[in-house]
Amino acid sequence: MKHTQRATLGGKLSAVLVAAGSSVGLGNIWRFPYVAGDNGGGAFLAIYILCVLILGLPLMIAEFSVGRASRKNAVGAYRALDRKWSFLGYNGVLAAFLILGFYFVVAGWTAEYMVHSVTGELARYSTAEEYTAMFERFIQNPWRPLLYTLLFITATHFVIALGVQKGIERSAKVLMPLLFIILIALAVHSLLMPGGSEGLRFFLKPDFSKITAATVLTALGQAFFSLSIGIGTMVTYASYFKPETNLRHTALNVTILDTLVALLAGIAIFPAVFSVGIQPSSGPSLVFITLPGIFNGMPWSMVWSSVFFLLLVVAALTSTISLHEVITAYMHEEWHLSRKSAAWATTGATLVLAALASLSLGVLNGWRICGLNLFDALDYLTANILLPVGGFFTCIFVGWRLDRKILQMQVTNDGQLPFRIRTLFLFLLRYLCPAILLLVFLDNLGAF
Ligand code: TRP
Repeated sequence: MKHTQRATLGGKLSAVLVAAGSSVGLGNIWRFPYVAGDNGGGAFLAIYILCVLILGLPLMIAEFSVGRASRKNAVGAYRALDRKWSFLGYNGVLAAFLILGFYFVVAGWTAEYMVHSVTGELARYSTAEEYTAMFERFIQNPWRPLLYTLLFITATHFVIALGVQKGIERSAKVLMPLLFIILIALAVHSLLMPGGSEGLRFFLKPDFSKITAATVLTALGQAFFSLSIGIGTMVTYASYFKPETNLRHTALNVTILDTLVALLAGIAIFPAVFSVGIQPSSGPSLVFITLPGIFNGMPWSMVWSSVFFLLLVVAALTSTISLHEVITAYMHEEWHLSRKSAAWATTGATLVLAALASLSLGVLNGWRICGLNLFDALDYLTANILLPVGGFFTCIFVGWRLDRKILQMQVTNDGQLPFRIRTLFLFLLRYLCPAILLLVFLDNLGAF
């Protein structure tokens, strides 16, 4: 069979680590805490967890099934299963490209902040105004963010160029456990700060009066973004899974790990934020302005901030790798480029987009798309539109179109595993998930 040349991942742990590497990223540590802070803390968390369980988990199993059944890149996978559905794969490749456009920029900032932590530059400032001024000066500077973004793209490129086993699998095996250890240390430290319990209360106590339809869409978009679903990343990764990999367990483990990291990030950030009396909803700059100020007041501040930004770099890298792989695998398999050329083409194209997104925060800020600069437009378009739309059609495809035998075979590993939740799983995929996605979506377009 021609599939035998295709790379596969090692043992059971590898599938979980690689997929968790994709899921756990800036979405959990940078995006989740400020989105939760902006949308009512604990109440947002409750809705977020419901979205993860009801929509995220079944969709991840669905994407895994499509990937492993076809053993192809996102476009090839949908095309192989049903020609008419290849658009879903294209939606994925496009979304991966657009996400990388702004993700690489933020990843670049994390690298720059890590360097500044290590050199002690960050510790030279002390007030919130100084940190704000420093951050604004930095992101508006045309060259410095570009330089670090370039550095990050280069690192991603070389992991991808090394291939699936040597690059992606090995890096996930080292980086993921490292990330966990760092995050737990930070969370414990933050909880022990004076006044920290108030922050924890804000984060965990639900207040449903803050919840509107827009909050639900935000929670949904955040859940999809954080779990890396809706755009074929998990299809691409599952195409490298072994026949013995248990798809349900893998999806469950990845979902638990991803949610745990988001929770830990909240526990590392909110108590510290409250401890020094800063607004929890200070937007995307929460970890770049608020946290350095907090670290500064702590003993060993340089160590803590270096460790924290190292954590962000690690988390971001395993995620940019997965997004890059979606495009590289597509070009390699569909356009018949060598893997190396496909990786270079992806790197070149994302470099241009990321550079424009980076400049859109400074010199190109006047350049607006529906009132948003390019950076914000890319974030909004992907998290609030392309991911939910991709998720909706994935439900319809796997729930209604895909041959039931194929799904059954993937989920049970050809009859070897029981499938006790079959009825529930199909009910979610066929009815509940698409209905929720449609309602939330229409409501946000102002249909009701
Ligand atoms: N999930 C990653 C994060 O939380 C980002 C990411 C990687 C992603 N692959 C994706 C988001 C696919 C959406 C779709 O940072």
